[in-house]
Amino acid sequence: MSKLNDAINEQYNYEIESAYIYVSMAHYVEEKGMSGFANFFKKQAKEELEHAAKFSDYLFSIDEKPTLEQIPQPQTDFGNFTETFKAAYEHEKEVTARINKLYDLSVEENDHKATSMLQWYIDEQVEEEDTFRTLIEQLERINESWAGLYLLDEKLGHR
Ligand code: FEO
Repeated sequence: MSKLNDAINEQYNYEIESAYIYVSMAHYVEEKGMSGFANFFKKQAKEELEHAAKFSDYLFSIDEKPTLEQIPQPQTDFGNFTETFKAAYEHEKEVTARINKLYDLSVEENDHKATSMLQWYIDEQVEEEDTFRTLIEQLERINESWAGLYLLDEKLGHR
């Protein structure tokens, strides 16, 4: 595999790791009785698996075989609810940084098909970061008050 395709395979694994982290967050908030928040994180985990699948489909489409790596055990305690969503936002920023690096590498290697494929992820990350930023803004106003938390939990149950 070329350096770029190796890095794409690495990101394929990182997207699966992201799903794993969001499932852990879903468990964490579910255990605290917030089934709407849990629904949000479970859906987020599913999206990450879709992101992963797009990378493996791409690798197959250029006749490369994706490889699964070992996934580290995720954190199991994320602090209060605002901190939990902040941890997810920080994770998304890390994903964005990695996608940007991949994109730069594809440009350096003049790999136009990879650059085109990666454009989708660049746009997707804008959406992902925006989702978490908006939720954190709401959570900061709620300031961990149960009344506000239950309203938001209800809303995220219908996401
Ligand atoms: Fe696959 Fe949330 O980035």
